[in-house]
Amino acid sequence: MKNQYQNPLGSLVKLFNAPTQLVNFLSYMLFFACGLTCGIILTFHVKRISFNLQVSSSSLSPTPPPQLSIPPMPELSKANRVGLKEFLKPTNVMHDMEDEELLWRASVTPKILEFPFDRVPKVAFMFLTKNSIPLAPLWEKFFQGHQGLYSIYVHSDPSFNGTEPDESSPFYGRTIPSKEVGWGNVNMIEAERRLLANALLDFSNQRFVLLSESCIPLFNFSTIYSYLMNSTQNFVQAYDLPGPVGQGRYNRKMYPPIAIQQWRKGGQWFEMDRDLALEVVSDKKYFPVFQRQCTGSCYADEHYLPTFVSINFWERNSNRSVTWVDWSKGGPHPNKFIRTDVTEAFLEKLRSDNKCEYNGNSTSTCYLFARKFLPNALDRLLRFAPKVMHFN
Ligand SMILES: *[C@@H]1O[C@H](CO)[C@@H](O)[C@H](O)[C@H]1NC(C)=O
Ligand SMILES: *[C@@H]1O[C@H](CO)[C@@H](O)[C@H](O)[C@H]1NC(C)=O
Ligand SMILES: *[C@@H]1O[C@H](CO)[C@@H](O)[C@H](O)[C@H]1NC(C)=O
Ligand SMILES: *[C@@H]1O[C@H](CO)[C@@H](O)[C@H](O)[C@H]1NC(C)=O
Ligand SMILES: *[C@@H]1O[C@H](CO)[C@@H](O)[C@H](O)[C@H]1NC(C)=O
Repeated sequence: MKNQYQNPLGSLVKLFNAPTQLVNFLSYMLFFACGLTCGIILTFHVKRISFNLQVSSSSLSPTPPPQLSIPPMPELSKANRVGLKEFLKPTNVMHDMEDEELLWRASVTPKILEFPFDRVPKVAFMFLTKNSIPLAPLWEKFFQGHQGLYSIYVHSDPSFNGTEPDESSPFYGRTIPSKEVGWGNVNMIEAERRLLANALLDFSNQRFVLLSESCIPLFNFSTIYSYLMNSTQNFVQAYDLPGPVGQGRYNRKMYPPIAIQQWRKGGQWFEMDRDLALEVVSDKKYFPVFQRQCTGSCYADEHYLPTFVSINFWERNSNRSVTWVDWSKGGPHPNKFIRTDVTEAFLEKLRSDNKCEYNGNSTSTCYLFARKFLPNALDRLLRFAPKVMHFN
């Protein structure tokens, strides 16, 4: 009964559906035909466009389009083999990287800590000078016989056009690209970071010392090398000084990220290891604050590193300098030593008449370098160095 009742209804629906299906079929056909036509027309058009393009491009340049050619790989024989060590070795200290590019390149550091080749660690001696290095003959004696254990970098004023050192000198070809540096200026820190970045490019450099043209070594190379390589600490002078030339130079606009309690002062002639050097060239947080807020009589070069290191890396900082300087006469500049000041007794005193800590032990060897020595002191320094400083 149910079926009989449903069937007529079903056939009624079918009766109504039949024309609908026909209409649907026809519209599908129409749509398909349209699509096909469109497709054929488009294909012809695209062909013509690409043909036109080819014609026009070939009419512009009569030569056929250049083919990609891969230059043949040079034969890597045993003789000209480029191993990792050779590949990493910086061939030339001259380059034309912009500071931003240089700092980024220098901040690249290996994640695998063991070197897959024998790496003899070197000390990078970085000279920040205005002109030439008048005491270079003393330094040349100092470096003599220690090739492979040091690298030299010289940042002099771009206006300096003195003569390039002799090819036999360790200073030969060691001048890095420089920019003008004003005393006590943020540019001075830029120059220090530029020196550090250049020295970081050589993966063998492990310790980094900043020197001026008036600096002298107080010990022979072997002693200084061992002292620095064995040091568990960095030598960035940092102290808190109340008063106008210390805390008085702090600017409240530096907060945050720098609070007055974190503000430090120190001499700019530092010594540091590779880890800290990497942090200094990678600093994008504190340096811009100094660029903006530490201008004029703020003397950024006396505050940036002491403050930056004391906030972030104080644990491994000795807070003292390895470069001796004499402020006893007062005034804004330290005492300068001339020829007649240089005696054996004076040099001996600088070497050993001190007290400080080294790797947690008390020692009298606190200073490895000293300043400020005028060019006219050179002959006496050369005379006393073999005896007093044990130059070989
Ligand atoms: C560069 O040297 C030339 C002579 O060699 C001299 O005339 C010129 O003044 C020097 N420039 C600077 C900036 O010292
Ligand atoms: C570190 O000190 C030890 C002991 O004084 C010495 O044998 C070693 O040669 C020193 N290391 C370097 C790299 O000079
Ligand atoms: C260096 O100074 C910081 C404060 O800025 C202090 O915490 C740290 O103990 C000092 N380190 C040494 C070795 O005196
Ligand atoms: C330094 O002190 C440590 C203990 O703190 C000691 O083991 C080591 O021998 C000392 N080094 C020197 C050179 O006196
Ligand atoms: C370096 O000086 C030390 C004393 O500071 C001395 O014992 C050593 O023999 C000297 N080294 C050379 C290579 O002259």
